[in-house]
Amino acid sequence: MHGDKFIFHPIGVIHSPHKVMSKTPIQPVFCNNIEGTVVLDAKYTDGLKDLQGFSYIYLFYYFHQSQKTCLRLKPYLSDQERGIFATRAPHRPNKLGMSLVRLIRIKDNILHVKDIDILNGTPLLDIKPYIQRFDSKKNTRSGWQDTISDDAASMRGLRDYKR
Ligand SMILES: C[S@@+](CC[C@H](N)C(=O)[O-])C[C@H]1O[C@@H](n2cnc3c(N)ncnc32)[C@H](O)[C@@H]1O
Repeated sequence: MHGDKFIFHPIGVIHSPHKVMSKTPIQPVFCNNIEGTVVLDAKYTDGLKDLQGFSYIYLFYYFHQSQKTCLRLKPYLSDQERGIFATRAPHRPNKLGMSLVRLIRIKDNILHVKDIDILNGTPLLDIKPYIQRFDSKKNTRSGWQDTISDDAASMRGLRDYKR
C-alpha cells in the first residue's frame, strides 16, 4: 500500500490555441486538425526514444481549470444528467484528462500534435503510445452515447471553436 495520497509531478506543459473551456471542442475527434505542442521537461527527453514511430499518442493530464467536482452532471452531448464516471467531463474527483492525439513530429523535447481538445497551459502527467493491437475493440456498446446520432455529436462536439 502507498497510503491514501499520491503526489504527481507534471512532466511538461501542453500548449494549444484553446483559452476558454466553453469554446474548446469536446474530444480530439471533433478537433479537425487543430494543432498544439507538448513541451516535455528536458530531463525526460530520453524517454521519447522510439515514440516517433507511432501515429497516435495518449496524453494524460490534469484538468487544472476545473474548479468543482460533480458526481452527476449533464455532459456536453446530453440533456440528461449522467454519472461522472459515465462521462469524460473534467469536473471529476481526480481531474484526470486523457486525449488521443495525432503525433506529427518530435523535435528534441517538443512534440507537435494535431486534434487537441486541451486548454493551453495544461500540466502534462504522462504520454503513452496508441497501439492498435491493444487498444482497438470491435462490437462494443457505448451506453448513453449510443442514443446520440453522429450528426448531433459532431454539431455539438465542436462547440463554437473559431480559428
Ligand atoms: C469533455 S473533456 C474530454 C477531455 C479528454 N479527451 C478526455 O476524454 O478525458 C474536454 C473538455 O475539457 C475542457 N478542458 C480541456 N482542458 C482543460 C483543463 N486543463 N482544465 C479544465 N478543463 C479543461 C474543455 O472544456 C474541453 O472541451
